[in-house]
Formats: sequence, structure tokens, C-alpha cells
Amino acid sequence: MRFAILMGLAATAWGEAPDAENGRHLFARYGCYQCHQLEAQGAAATGPRLGPRPIPFANFTKYVRRPTGQMPPYTAKVVKDSELADIYAFLESLPAPPPVKDIPLLNQ
Ligand code: HEC
Repeated sequence: MRFAILMGLAATAWGEAPDAENGRHLFARYGCYQCHQLEAQGAAATGPRLGPRPIPFANFTKYVRRPTGQMPPYTAKVVKDSELADIYAFLESLPAPPPVKDIPLLNQ
């Protein structure tokens, strides 16, 4: 309940609350998936895993705006701050992988 109130306040302060469903859509539309894969699970040859526990939002935004490696930059003209917040919400919403102890093949 208290959490819901806080979320409500945050939404009022920053405009729209981040929308994970729209984030999933944008992740595909802006081509993030081409390197990071559709569930952001990453692939060794193209780009690292981004979720379900993404790096802090400030670092995330900074990297997308000014990457230092192979990744192409996305300026605020191309992907708005609010859209990055939606993409971030999508990454946070991804299900966590099961613990190793629950994967029979890894417990023989
Ligand atoms: C052409 C391939 C490519 C595309 C498209 C791409 N990325 Fe990346 N991304 C990478 C690679 C490769 C890295 C690893 C660091 C590097 O080489 O830049 C990376 C790193 C990152 C990181 C830093 C991860 C960390 O743990 O430090 C974030 C955040 C990120 N990408 C988000 C995005 C988002 C959001 C999009 C879409 C708007 C996107 N990327 C599109 C290739 C890509």
C-alpha cells in the first residue's frame, strides 16, 4: 500500500509511470534485440545480457547515450528519456532464471 503511494508520487513527479509492455515493444522497434536478443538474454557474439537485473538506471542511460565499445549510440533525438525508462522497466520485469539447484542436469 505504502509502496503503491510512493509509486504514485513518483509517477506524478516524473510524468507518466514507466510502461514495461511498451518497453518490450521499443526494445524490438529500436533494434536492441538484434544484439541483445528478444528477452535481453544476450549472446556472446553480439551483446551482453541486460536483464532481469539491469545496471542502475543512471548508468544504463549514460551507456546507451554514449557507449564506449561496439554498441552504436542512441541520442535523445532517436530514443526519448521516457522511452529509455520504459525499456528499463521491461528489463526489470523479465523473470529471473531458476536457481541452479532446481535444474536437474546441473545437480547430477
Ligand atoms: C549493434 C549491436 C547493438 C545494438 C543494436 C544495441 N546494443 Fe547495447 N550493447 C552492444 C554491445 C556489443 C555491448 C557491450 C559493450 C560494447 O561493446 O559497447 C552493449 C552494451 C549495452 C549496455 C551496457 C551493459 C552493461 O552491463 O554495461 C546497455 C545498457 C545496452 N547495451 C543497452 C542497449 C539498448 C537499450 C539498446 C537499444 C536502444 C541497445 N543496447 C542496442 C551491442 C548493441
